[in-house]
Amino acid sequence: MQVEDVKKVCVLGAGAMGAGIAQVCSQAGYAVAMRDIEQKFVDAGFKRIRGPLMKRVEKGKMTAAEVDAVVARIQGTTDVASAVKGAQLVIEAVPEKMELKKQVWAEAERSCPPEVVFASNTSSLSITEMAASTKRPDRFVGMHFFNPAPVMKLVEVIRGSETSSDTIAFAKSFCLKLGKEAVEVREAPGFVVNRLLVPMMNEAFNLLLEGVATAEDIDKAMKLGTNMPMGPFELADFTGLDIGLDTMETLFRETGDGKFRPSPLLRQYVRAGRLGRKTGKGVYDYTASP
Ligand SMILES: NC(=O)c1ccc[n+]([C@@H]2O[C@H](COP(=O)([O-])OP(=O)(O)OC[C@H]3O[C@@H](n4cnc5c(N)ncnc54)[C@H](O)[C@@H]3O)[C@@H](O)[C@H]2O)c1
Repeated sequence: MQVEDVKKVCVLGAGAMGAGIAQVCSQAGYAVAMRDIEQKFVDAGFKRIRGPLMKRVEKGKMTAAEVDAVVARIQGTTDVASAVKGAQLVIEAVPEKMELKKQVWAEAERSCPPEVVFASNTSSLSITEMAASTKRPDRFVGMHFFNPAPVMKLVEVIRGSETSSDTIAFAKSFCLKLGKEAVEVREAPGFVVNRLLVPMMNEAFNLLLEGVATAEDIDKAMKLGTNMPMGPFELADFTGLDIGLDTMETLFRETGDGKFRPSPLLRQYVRAGRLGRKTGKGVYDYTASP
């Protein structure tokens, strides 16, 4: 597959990442299908896309007609077969569970010709393992976008054990078409960014648990002391505590290294449903703010 052949992109999952990736592909001029399991999730995906774009309209950075055109290029659906039909690239952004991802790829493969490239947006799971569950391990690659996908410049392009050099070249060129910067990464738990970033967030939960400082002061210390734009808890609440815990569990399981053990406090918050902004409460409470 050559990047010039891409006319339609199918995105599986309309959550935080799926909707963002669908928007980025549409803004680059591609026809997009965005698939989720229920219509209410598809609708929520469109809301995620429209909301921030309308803010740009209010600021005079975009016209309402441009927003309509971005949305119009995205076909929302709950039907896998119609989503993948005619697509040259399928990008998966369903929850971070290996068994679910394999099931989603098996479903997609039933309706996809062999030349179609499969890309997973996984934060930390094995591309090799997912690829091996399909009949196209050489045309399977990791394309790890960052949250929010329309804003963040980086995509980690991950080479699984059997990913061909052609597929890597294709994925990198596609990132350029989207206006993104690609970094090629060999498969390793957490790749580069999450291997460094998520253990730092995890350690912030340990500091909080030990009573070393308040959440506000830990965030303040990291922002003012290292110039991070968000503190570790602000970032955890933004990206989702469940996603952070999933990543830590993968790092710990894959390496067996105690330095990657999930913080008990992070685990407890996830068990309590305190997943961050998306549930109204994480480390901080968002229910009172407008
Ligand atoms: N949140 C982040 O900051 C971030 C950043 C980079 C990568 N990721 C990765 O992206 C993936 C998605 O994360 P997210 O934050 O968007 O999660 P999310 O929970 O916001 O969205 C996942 C969506 O997938 C849908 N879904 C579930 N089963 C499905 C199926 N069979 N077919 C289609 N859709 C299905 C869910 O209904 C939900 O809408 C994960 O692998 C995650 O690790 C997340």
